[in-house]
Amino acid sequence: MLSIRSLAAFAAGLSVVAAAPKAKQSTSSATAPASTTTSSCQGYFEPLAPPYLNEIAQANGKMYFGTATDQPGTGEDTNILYQEILNDTRIFGQVTPANYMKFFATEPEQGVFNFTGGQVVVDIAQDHGKVLRCHNLIWNSQLSDWVTEGNWTRETLTAAMKVHIQSLITHWGGTCYAWDVINEAFASNGSFSQSIWYDVIGPDYFPLAFQFAQEAVEATGQDIKLYYNDYGIENPNNKSAAVINMVNSLKSQGIRIDGVGLEAHYVVGSGTPSLADQKAIMDAYVATGVEVALTELDIRFNPDIVNATAYALQAQNYYDSVQACMQVEKCVGITVWDFDDQYSWIPQTFPGQGSATLYNADFTRKPAYYAVADALANQPCSVCTA
Ligand code: G3I
Repeated sequence: MLSIRSLAAFAAGLSVVAAAPKAKQSTSSATAPASTTTSSCQGYFEPLAPPYLNEIAQANGKMYFGTATDQPGTGEDTNILYQEILNDTRIFGQVTPANYMKFFATEPEQGVFNFTGGQVVVDIAQDHGKVLRCHNLIWNSQLSDWVTEGNWTRETLTAAMKVHIQSLITHWGGTCYAWDVINEAFASNGSFSQSIWYDVIGPDYFPLAFQFAQEAVEATGQDIKLYYNDYGIENPNNKSAAVINMVNSLKSQGIRIDGVGLEAHYVVGSGTPSLADQKAIMDAYVATGVEVALTELDIRFNPDIVNATAYALQAQNYYDSVQACMQVEKCVGITVWDFDDQYSWIPQTFPGQGSATLYNADFTRKPAYYAVADALANQPCSVCTA
């Protein structure tokens, strides 16, 4: 049942909830999923009721089920019901800052660090006993102007990269379960993507970044996992082969890499790899000696036109993705890339696409939420047919 606090938030702050339900929100499966005891209406307005995804994940051997969150200043931090769901560690046992640990936010001027935004999510993790994934150190997007506009040599950019990596790892230390050291370095054909790092330093920016990260982690004395994180590497293909080669190469050089993060930004239908393909590629990464995680899971509609059948297919796609992780022992956990459509990054980046997350914009739960619960419990999907 909703708490008094939830109801107050619902009544006071969430005008969107008071509006008439959108057509797409009234088309989810008519019956409450078998895995819940209290669902009663279409759209499942039970944002804080069981089943609890993190509790189920942990009961079945995973470290966490978690979510990204984009705070401060995006509206998430002033939405009381959003906060209440996010903070409920029975639902989300892990958080990732979607933006505020990135280069532009943390080192806006060379050698001048700003940890304020990132600390907001660190505090959420610490206050509510959640695992924290720290994201990210070296990427070609969301860089500071002084990086993209600098007049660099290989030596000076390598030095700047080292300072950035080591300063952030040192600052947040063991509060980070893991760092995404490098993000999205490869193109779909398996070659390096163009980036300031690759263009100026060359291909060994990759091992150098992990070497600098390793030095900083060793200095902290903490066991902070060092990950490579990317999209399009969730099934066997040229890009995932390049990642496997790189992991093997680092390991052969004695350079530490602990994990591969599979972002898992999918499209409902054929844009989601099969359970078998997702499991196969996770097994292949694990065979190199690393752990894996689904780090940014969301499954969008393209176009964003939904009905009961479409929701059921999305539920099946979520079910398969989460089940793939459940079937791989060294898949440590699953992170969704925010949990409510109101705050999803998709519509801004892919106009006309959306409805990618587990909760509708009004905080009703989609069938996909219950499909994830079933997958985490290793039960058949109760909501995957319309
Ligand atoms: O902060 C400004 C705000 O002042 C302004 O009013 C608003 C207007 O659009 O934009 C705000 O900045 C946006 C920022 O997110 C904060 O919400 C940027 O425009 C927007 O481009 C930025 O998008 C982020 C995107 O990375 C950038 O590539 C998304 O939030 C973030 O979820 C997304 O995350 C990435 C992962 O880091 C790596 N994997 C892919 C994933 C999705 O793109």
